[in-house]
Amino acid sequence: MLNLVIFGPPGSGKGTQSEKLIERYGLVHMSTGDILRAEMAAHTELGKKAQAYMEKGELVPDADVIEMVARKIDQTKDPQGFIFDGFPRTTAQARSLRNMLTERDTRIDLVISLEVPEEELVKRLLKRGQEAGRQDDEIGVIRNRIEVYKQMTTPVIDFYKKMRKYVPVEGVGTIDEIFERIVNRIEHYISFTL
Ligand code: AP5
Repeated sequence: MLNLVIFGPPGSGKGTQSEKLIERYGLVHMSTGDILRAEMAAHTELGKKAQAYMEKGELVPDADVIEMVARKIDQTKDPQGFIFDGFPRTTAQARSLRNMLTERDTRIDLVISLEVPEEELVKRLLKRGQEAGRQDDEIGVIRNRIEVYKQMTTPVIDFYKKMRKYVPVEGVGTIDEIFERIVNRIEHYISFTL
């Protein structure tokens, strides 16, 4: 089983690279942003609650997100592995994920962290806002999402550095170039570990 976290600020390419990694390694995509948007579209209680946070670019409370992820893990039959995209976003979420996986006799193998300068993030997200109309791709909300990332999510880096799981990858270039960098790091890990 191969379990990855794809990590990085908003617009760093987590979703884009996840799609390619899923195809290559047969992983199950656990994107908390996608799951929360589906909950919103279905007007569930969780979706209604999450909407108020998401439209401002704030984090949905840890307890709600952690419960949602645990439920999704348990609903997945015989996975070859998971790719966690947009989760964990706080150290409380990182600790819960470690416990959830330990209880299920598995663990995170690698945390692939996409490094992209802030102005490139803003440029990508504004472009997507114009083309695809995602509601939180608006300049004020984008700036807040990046600020929330810096304050709430960057401490997760130290959590995984201490566990020797943290793998920084340059996230600027073509999608294929970045994918190749990621795959090189995964293959290196697999050849020595799995
Ligand atoms: P979420 O959906 O996770 O959004 P995000 O982290 O802001 O990430 P994005 O989807 O915007 O960016 P990405 O890194 O996936 O990049 P992508 O591949 O899409 O979260 C949304 C909200 O949900 C949060 O604000 C929060 O409220 C809530 N939430 C979610 N998870 C939570 C959690 N764990 N706890 C609490 N709250 C949570 O690419 C972006 C764009 O760039 C695309 O248009 C893409 O085509 C383009 N692009 C990609 N790669 C390249 C490249 N190499 N060159 C040029 N353009 C590129």
